[in-house]
Amino acid sequence: MLVLAIETSCDETSAAVLRAPETGTRTSGTCPPSESLRAPEILSNIVLSQDDVHAPYGGVVPELASRQHLRSITAIVGEALSRAGVGIAEIDLYTVTQGPGLIGSLLVGLSFAKGLAYFHKKPLLGVDHLEAHLEACFLENPAIAYPALGLLVSGGHTALYLMVEPLSYKLLGRTRDDAAGEALDKIAKFLGLGYPGGPVIEKLGKSGEAKAFPFGVPRTKDRSLDFSFSGLKTAALKLIRENGLTKDDPRLADFLASFEEIVARTLVDQVRAAADQVQPRSLLLCGGVARNTRLRTRFQDYARRAGFDAYVPSPKLCTDNAAMVGAAALKRFARCPELSTDLDLDAFARS
Ligand code: KG4
Ligand code: ZN
Repeated sequence: MLVLAIETSCDETSAAVLRAPETGTRTSGTCPPSESLRAPEILSNIVLSQDDVHAPYGGVVPELASRQHLRSITAIVGEALSRAGVGIAEIDLYTVTQGPGLIGSLLVGLSFAKGLAYFHKKPLLGVDHLEAHLEACFLENPAIAYPALGLLVSGGHTALYLMVEPLSYKLLGRTRDDAAGEALDKIAKFLGLGYPGGPVIEKLGKSGEAKAFPFGVPRTKDRSLDFSFSGLKTAALKLIRENGLTKDDPRLADFLASFEEIVARTLVDQVRAAADQVQPRSLLLCGGVARNTRLRTRFQDYARRAGFDAYVPSPKLCTDNAAMVGAAALKRFARCPELSTDLDLDAFARS
């Protein structure tokens, strides 16, 4: 069985073709135990970034993003099929990110997928973008043990989920203001370092001393599992102003390393607090910011010390990509194969 997945929730136009694993005969409506699940095979996963389009503005411009998706979507889907060596008539299931994301961008992918599914008379499945990020972890490690505690860190979201079984995603905590990636992007923008900020901060801060600039780990007063990054962002802006930092300053690497370190520590501290509460069997880290080496290292170090199995997708599966959408869809399809082409499927901007 072959699935064509489309992802256009923000500023990446992506399409992927995946082959479902053989599952054997099963009664519809029952879910196989996670240990018996095998990962789908990624035949292609094409991602066209719009970074160059948005870089002059220091962040994503929604109207430009949807126009760019419109320009690229046909070619990207064509490229995904040709790299996979698959003809469109061979596709058995279409899937697309339904939300959350930029509404105009989502509508481009959704309308395109609807058109294909309708024309080829095949089922269409809408997928939640955040669930897709979590499912990216299972693409390379299908037998991750449940319950799994997942930290999703991206440009738009920072949230902790408890997955007690396949396809169950219980939100434990989320950011009350900025997402972690957003905080990195805004500091980079303020310093004139370009967009997206996370990779630039990582590159320029690599040689820096992470203890050079004093940052305190932000705490929510009610000991909840929520996050807050706006205080950290304000503290960073204050330090930039007080020290007269510019992008050419020799202390820049130290400052960026210190900021990156506090973001990573804040995230891992909250994973620790959540793990103490819910006692998971595995820990997951996903989303664009999960590409960050410092965060990956802090996360793995904590997991090792605490005795958890920890899983972080390969960098290309952390940032937005259609393979993760295909993975989420195939897991749902495996449980409930009776699907239709729902042409009333709506995009949603917020979860
Ligand atoms: O998941 P994603 O591709 O899109 C959203 O769903 O938001 O994440 C994009 C975010 C951006 O904020 C970007 O700065 C951040 O991921 N990012 C990184 C790195 N690569 C991308 N942050 C830190 N270090 C990186 N290497
Ligand atoms: Zn994302």
